[in-house]
Amino acid sequence: MVRGTGSTPREGADHPAGGGAMSAIPESVDDTEALLAAGHYLADRELATAVFLALRLRRPLLLEGEAGVGKTEIAKVLAATLGRELIRLQCYEGLDIADAVYEWNHARQMLAVRLAEAAGTGHELAESGLYAERFLQRRPVLRALHSVGGETPVLLIDELDRTDAPFEAFLLEVLSDFQVTIPELGTVRAAEPPIVILTSNRTREIHDALKRRCLYHWVDYPDAARELAILERKVPEAGAALSRAVVAFVQRLRQLDLYRLPGVAETLDWARALVALGCTTLDAQTAALTLGALIKSQDDLGLVRAAGVDAMLAGAAAAQA
Ligand SMILES: Nc1ncnc2c1ncn2[C@@H]1O[C@H](COP(=O)(O)OP(=O)(O)O)[C@@H](O)[C@H]1O
Ligand SMILES: [Mg+2]
Repeated sequence: MVRGTGSTPREGADHPAGGGAMSAIPESVDDTEALLAAGHYLADRELATAVFLALRLRRPLLLEGEAGVGKTEIAKVLAATLGRELIRLQCYEGLDIADAVYEWNHARQMLAVRLAEAAGTGHELAESGLYAERFLQRRPVLRALHSVGGETPVLLIDELDRTDAPFEAFLLEVLSDFQVTIPELGTVRAAEPPIVILTSNRTREIHDALKRRCLYHWVDYPDAARELAILERKVPEAGAALSRAVVAFVQRLRQLDLYRLPGVAETLDWARALVALGCTTLDAQTAALTLGALIKSQDDLGLVRAAGVDAMLAGAAAAQA
């Protein structure tokens, strides 16, 4: 790995777009915080420490938390600010090795057989084999282990809780030894372990064996000060007064016993919606009309209406003062 003084993040990296030169792994927690901030990700000290340690110790990082708290974004921002390729494996029920790791390209194998037969070189093909690398289709996990020129990518295994136990069991080999075994070909081992970020929305428990291989961090909702800072970064057009009111209201909303609390993603969406309506401050009527940007279930909407949008707004304003 290239190390050096270049641990200062590139300034003004607009959004996690990547494509830049590869930067060194940060030297400290402060550096890590600055690196993430350069990608417009505002991490608290605990999260920055977890990310720093994962990078330093080359351990996978498992991030758990409610939806919309910024888990996926960490992997995107790390890839962009470190100048690495982001390889994303979106998990879903029924995800299997063929989608996640590799698959033999049967169409190409067949074609090769036909061509060899026509050319009378069938015996050569039989010798070199149909299970050669050129017939291998690399899926995200294998691509992440197969980095070239020391450019270790960021492997994002997103929403792991959506897969099932057999797939998790398979990941154990990948995460402990950074290798996968392909029966017809042998074992593929990463020259350099990729940076691995796993996320879970905790719709089910991740197995202990897998957790043991990772560093773990619970990503919580941000406090008001940090949420305001995030909003100012991501939706600067909202202006100070509206941003403060939005954050105070959302923080208040999170004290209700809702089925699904709004995440940072919803806060940003709501602020954008209010800007689109030309608001510079927040009033009860507009708040009530735009709740759909924040609350995504009929039952939760009922609860918020029962609590009274104007009462909540007044409470939020009082808490701010
Ligand atoms: N700490 C943070 N700093 C900057 N942006 C954040 C932060 N937390 C969340 N966000 C923003 O919130 C949105 C949702 O984040 P995402 O990573 O998709 O959530 P999750 O994966 O936890 O469901 C993204 O637009 C992200 O940029
Ligand atoms: Mg996500």
